Amino acid sequence: MCGIFAYTGKGKKDAGKVLLDGLLSLEYRGYDSAGIFTPESGAVKTPGAVKELRKKVSKDFSGKSGIAHLRWATHGEPTAKNAHPHSDCGGELWLVHNGIIENFKELKEKLAKLGHTFRSDSDTEVLAHLVEEYLGKTRDFEKAALKALNDVRGTYGIALQYKGEPDKLIAARMGSPIVIGLGNGEHFIASDPSPILPHTKKVVFLEDGEVAVLTPQKHVIRKLDSSQVRRNATEIEWSAEQAQKGGYEHFMLKEIMEGPEVIENTLRGRLLPSKGDVKLGGLESVAKKLAKIERIIIVACGTAYYAGLVGEYMLEEHAGIPVEVELGSEFRYRHPVLNERTAVLAISQSGETLDTLEAVREGKRRGALTLGIVNTVGSTIARETDAGVYNHAGPEIGVASTKAFVSQLTALALLTIFLGRQRGMSPKEGKRIARELAALPKKLQAILDRHGDIEKLAKQYGFARDFLYLGRRYNLPVAFEGALKLKEISYVHAEGCGAGEMKHGPIAMIDERFPTVALAPMDSMYEKMISNIHEIKARRGPVIVVATEGDKEVGKLVEDVLYVPKTIEMLEPILNVVPLQLFAYYFARAKGLNVDRPRNLAKSVTVE
Ligand code: F6R
Repeated sequence: MCGIFAYTGKGKKDAGKVLLDGLLSLEYRGYDSAGIFTPESGAVKTPGAVKELRKKVSKDFSGKSGIAHLRWATHGEPTAKNAHPHSDCGGELWLVHNGIIENFKELKEKLAKLGHTFRSDSDTEVLAHLVEEYLGKTRDFEKAALKALNDVRGTYGIALQYKGEPDKLIAARMGSPIVIGLGNGEHFIASDPSPILPHTKKVVFLEDGEVAVLTPQKHVIRKLDSSQVRRNATEIEWSAEQAQKGGYEHFMLKEIMEGPEVIENTLRGRLLPSKGDVKLGGLESVAKKLAKIERIIIVACGTAYYAGLVGEYMLEEHAGIPVEVELGSEFRYRHPVLNERTAVLAISQSGETLDTLEAVREGKRRGALTLGIVNTVGSTIARETDAGVYNHAGPEIGVASTKAFVSQLTALALLTIFLGRQRGMSPKEGKRIARELAALPKKLQAILDRHGDIEKLAKQYGFARDFLYLGRRYNLPVAFEGALKLKEISYVHAEGCGAGEMKHGPIAMIDERFPTVALAPMDSMYEKMISNIHEIKARRGPVIVVATEGDKEVGKLVEDVLYVPKTIEMLEPILNVVPLQLFAYYFARAKGLNVDRPRNLAKSVTVE
């Protein structure tokens, strides 16, 4: 989320050009708004991405050093006012930031009392004023920056510049990545190595709690307590092109691999494990109305629709609310009966899918409360719904949705606790779910670590022209999603089906060339799933099973098993979908297809 890039070179290169070119390779990190600053030419900021920034920057914009930013909005709408760089009162200190300053409200109040005036709604601006405050007292840029960072809670990757010492840049890291590029008589700061690579392959990765002071000739790394750190440079082997994907061959793989971090980001600051409850700031304004809601209709398309189907099971079982799930494209044409006791909940990664948006508008017209689970801050669905929960999954670039699905399910689990606790879910039950949610990132990492086995398996099944995906209860939507992933990037036919429905038709397709992927974790549906697998085996159908680690029986029944760690049944889809995403990815790769640009598909569907 958010890309930052900074340069100091004492005129060796033009900072304006270096920074604008570099931002292009960071564009996948955010494209809500962009901004650039050099001490010589000042700041230029705009909504939109690099293209818009280029249009706004004058021809003679230049500098010997500078900082630049691409924003993926979290606090404040994506406007020019909220775009980075942000500055102090006097326009002397300029700052770009990736992350969230959690105590910004408290700091802002304090600084306002001391006479600071703020120009934006952004949490970042507070840090510029805080450094200004300390600079006034210490008259030392480095000391002021260190003191300010010691007052801040939250996550940050930053680059900071002071007009009084224009060749000097300060970088700091806490939770958000920062790489320092070591050139010859020049230094760079970036969120990832991609914009640095055209200039140098020698980099130093900052660690959490570290601050780097850079001039064209020198770099010094300190800890927040100001003790010095020695770190050897790393030589990057990637090409500049590859690095845009963080070293992965495709955005899709990179985004699948981000799963554990995505779950952490969706949960961050929201789980209250000791109370068995959650804090969802985006729902506070409608909390009272939500307590009276008698029915929820989830509206969504594609992958988000399948997330909604999982949400139906979660919310009905654990929050006791009747839920229906509707395709956005169908909802508004069927004259739904709604009232003020109905909530229409839209799920959308982009927040721009037209059918989902129109379903929200239909809900509004018919008097329902409208809610959103949306990844893109400031998108139309986010703006038009009455309240909602942001995914905080970061920009999803791969056309096939992967990490958004994982975060949608995580957000639905949070919503289940929220609504459940309003309706008599016991603190004990809330704690149990919260505990299991918090344990998911590690469990997901264990699945990702075995990606090599999944790649081998995908190659082994390269012969197949059709697949059946089977699941029951919570894992039925996972079967649908697994099939969708496979068909959209490999163009091989795949069909998701309720395992109980199989005997009502689909089983007729099974033979030795028609494989089935069966979701059979050790849960309340286990025995029934095992019976269904027997039925397929009896017809010589090859079967891949997604099973719970430690399940010895399933290994006796079929040869190909993808094991996943145990969790509670309502959270199983968050883990179980990942081997299916990886299977689809490697299956399509083995066919030499470009999985990031599947034919006929676009990332955001804004037509009916
Ligand atoms: C499938 C996929 C699509 C989207 C659908 C909804 O991999 O990406 O099915 O899930 O177009 O998009 P959003 O979530 O942006 O509303």
